Amino acid sequence: MTGIVLLGPPGAGKGTQAIRLAQELILPHISTGEILRQNVKDLTSLGEEAEDYMNRGLLVPDALVAKMLTERFDRPDVKKGFILDGYPRNISQAKTLDDILSSKKLDISTVFYLDTSDEVIIQRLSGRLVCKVCGLNFHIKNIPPKNKGMCDSCGGKLYQRKDDSEGTVKKRLEVYKKEAAALIEFYEAKQKLHRLSADGNSEDVLKQIVEVAQKCDDTLKI
Ligand code: AP5
Repeated sequence: MTGIVLLGPPGAGKGTQAIRLAQELILPHISTGEILRQNVKDLTSLGEEAEDYMNRGLLVPDALVAKMLTERFDRPDVKKGFILDGYPRNISQAKTLDDILSSKKLDISTVFYLDTSDEVIIQRLSGRLVCKVCGLNFHIKNIPPKNKGMCDSCGGKLYQRKDDSEGTVKKRLEVYKKEAAALIEFYEAKQKLHRLSADGNSEDVLKQIVEVAQKCDDTLKI
């Protein structure tokens, strides 16, 4: 099985790459941010608890996210592998992930760290558009939709995320930077971490990810 984890600051392109990688490798894409946003939309109790943290650019408490992720890993589609995006965010979550995976006899094959600058992050997040229906990402300038305001894939309406406002992006970056170094060290010590520059166009970044993933995992045939 193939277990890929994408780490990186908000706006580095984790979601964009995870969606495309999941299509290429025919593996489930697990995004904790997406699952949380769906819960907010569905007005679940988890969504109600999470919404305020998300709108303020803070991490949702570890215990809530761990429960949600455990439930996701109970689904049988993860047996052949997964592309995990947005988890872990700190060492405690990294250890929880190890526990969840070992209880299911699953493992991480490769961890990608998508590296980019604050300047690129702010440019990307301020122009991000997301499909309300399928969650596909676009960008006003970098990856514009073919028809204004409409998703290329499903025709759904595009919207700007609430947490992409300037103040919240700054807070998200601050929260990210506090935990990132320790998380990177954690996976470096396990010899699973691969750093990539996420500054290139999304096709080039995907190509680099696929090349490294194939080198690290003999079972990958694309
Ligand atoms: P989440 O949704 O995970 O947000 P994030 O980690 O801040 O990351 P983003 O989704 O903002 O960015 P991305 O790296 O996926 O970039 P994207 O591909 O969209 O989490 C949201 C919130 O949920 C958190 O703040 C927290 O409150 C909560 N949460 C989630 N997980 C949690 C956890 N584990 N624990 C606790 N709380 C949690 O790209 C950005 C833009 O750039 C797009 O417009 C895209 O089109 C464009 N773009 C992408 N790649 C390129 C490229 N190569 N060139 C040019 N443009 C590009």
